[in-house]
Formats: sequence, structure tokens, C-alpha cells
Amino acid sequence: MRRLSILILAAVLSAAAWANEVAVAPVVDASALPPLGEVWRETNPYRGLPEALAVGQSAYNQACARCHGADAATRAAPAPDLRNLDRGCRRIVGSELKARCMADNDAYFAKTVRRGKTIVGVVHMPPWDGVLPQEVAWAIQVFFEARAREGR
Ligand code: HEC
Repeated sequence: MRRLSILILAAVLSAAAWANEVAVAPVVDASALPPLGEVWRETNPYRGLPEALAVGQSAYNQACARCHGADAATRAAPAPDLRNLDRGCRRIVGSELKARCMADNDAYFAKTVRRGKTIVGVVHMPPWDGVLPQEVAWAIQVFFEARAREGR
């Protein structure tokens, strides 16, 4: 009997943990951004586009902040600080090499966001493919990169 209740408890707890890791689409108006269609770009097409910032900030705070930290402004979050994602590229001086580094970084960003992160069967981050349109994903990246450059 005791073993059964432990089993039930474990099932309930793991279901709760799982429920926590479901990707929920943020409610955000991305109509100010040029539409990109279904096929994901290899690199972020919105870098330098001011309209992407507000869209990205809102979507980030709705969809990513609970794990990656409020407003991309804290190091205390359980998940990695996304402001560090392109840190290696920022240090590069040559423009061609820097562009290649950023392209690589963008491919990693898109791949990770779309697939999520499952490590030895444990969902660390749910997959966002089919939940987050690429317009919103790229806008989120523009937002946290801006945070990194503000040094916040
Ligand atoms: C349920 C918590 C959770 C949510 C919500 C979440 N993530 Fe994550 N994410 C993680 C964890 C944990 C990792 C680290 C996984 C690992 O490497 O073990 C991670 C890793 C990443 C990485 C790779 C970071 C690196 O340094 O390699 C990116 C990029 C990323 N997340 C983007 C996002 C974006 C964008 C959103 C919002 C749309 C988001 N995440 C929402 C938990 C989450």
C-alpha cells in the first residue's frame, strides 16, 4: 500500500514537472515585422531592426523569462543567461570572421529553440517548433542581444 502511494506520488510529481515544461505560445503582435514564411532562415534577419525589440521583449518575458530570467537582466536564473550566447563572437575583431561566428550562433539558436533540450530523457527545455513562429524567435534573440550590449 505504501509502495503504491509512493508510486502515485511520483507519477503526480513528474506529471507536474512535465506540465511545467510545456511550451506555451506568447501572445504578441508581430505584424510590425517583415513576415518570413514557414521555412526558417539560417541567420537572424531582424538584427538592427528597432521594431524587433519590443516584440522580442514581450515574447521573451512571456515565454522564456520563467527559466532564463526576467527581462534578460539576471544571472540568477536556473537556465543559461542568454546574454552570453554570442559572447564569443562579440570578441572577434575581423568582420568576415565575426559574420561567420554570428551565422553559426544563429544556427545554434534556431536549432536549440526549435528542438528544445532533452538530456538523457529529461526535458530541460521544451521544443518550440510549431509553437513559436520564427518571426517571434528571431525578435527574442534581437532583444536579449540588445540587453547584452547594454551590459545589463
Ligand atoms: C522550462 C524552462 C525553459 C523555458 C521556458 C525556456 N528555456 Fe531555454 N533552456 C532551458 C534550459 C534548462 C537550458 C539549458 C539546457 C542544457 O543545456 O542542459 C536552455 C537552453 C537554451 C538555449 C541554449 C543556451 C546555451 O547557452 O547553449 C537557448 C538558445 C534557449 N534555451 C532559448 C530559449 C528561448 C528563446 C526561450 C523562450 C522562447 C526558452 N529558451 C525557454 C530552459 C528553458
